[in-house]
Amino acid sequence: MDTPLDSRASTIRVRYETSPLNMSRYGYAVGILRYVIMLGEGEFDIRVRDDGVEVWVTQMGNYMNMNTAWINRSTGTVAITDPFDSKRWVSALKKEGLRPTHLLYTHTHRDHVEGYSEMIKLIPEIEVWGHSDANLSGLLAYAVFKKVNFTDEWINAPNTTIEWSVGGINLSVTHSPGHAPGHVTIHGHGVYHAGDLLFTAHSGRVDLPGSDPAAQWDSVLYARDLLRNLPKNWRLIPGHRYDWIDGTTPDWVSIEDALEYNYSLNSPVLNSLNGSD
Ligand SMILES: [Fe+2]
Repeated sequence: MDTPLDSRASTIRVRYETSPLNMSRYGYAVGILRYVIMLGEGEFDIRVRDDGVEVWVTQMGNYMNMNTAWINRSTGTVAITDPFDSKRWVSALKKEGLRPTHLLYTHTHRDHVEGYSEMIKLIPEIEVWGHSDANLSGLLAYAVFKKVNFTDEWINAPNTTIEWSVGGINLSVTHSPGHAPGHVTIHGHGVYHAGDLLFTAHSGRVDLPGSDPAAQWDSVLYARDLLRNLPKNWRLIPGHRYDWIDGTTPDWVSIEDALEYNYSLNSPVLNSLNGSD
């Protein structure tokens, strides 16, 4: 159960979600109303959960990169995915008496590791996590990837999920290559942070150096099964805030709506891969 946090800083937006409206399968008239409010650049949405973990979500940068953080105040643990503007993150957390402790990288495309260098300057002791397949070298890779020195690595096979638990934060990390080598999704405490595997209405591009379209479909298929087993009201946080099915650009959608309307999650390609339904 998420509870919006009362405003503690000017960068925090308190958000209220209305009860789900009844959308027809291809309807786009009334159901969109619950997604029209959008975060401003660098604005933080904060939810305090019954399990004591806070989830902060923001969007930053020209490509509307979405960042998620899981915070346990009692242990001082602050784990952030792909922070875009590290100064902004550190400043907002400092107002709350908090400090980043862990970086969790979904992949190492330049826009997702934009904040890495600054974060290391500000928090030299921070733990930096990513998948062992995510760091590429070579001239071709240089165009789209940026070197990150992981202090710790996940080493699981494609389309397997492992648990990551630190300081009362319990997350599941799924290796989901295709958009980029070593891409992972991270879920727990009410959110599924999809990185660039899935956006609200689509899946990530596969025309970049290191991309693998076949692997991407396998990852989308695995994600669909995973999402079907998560609570329907959890939020799917995309790596970028792109268009939803009605042309609006919500910060996130519910897992229920992603499963119902995301074009890739409903693609016939998945049925052929699955050999059923
Ligand atoms: Fe990417």
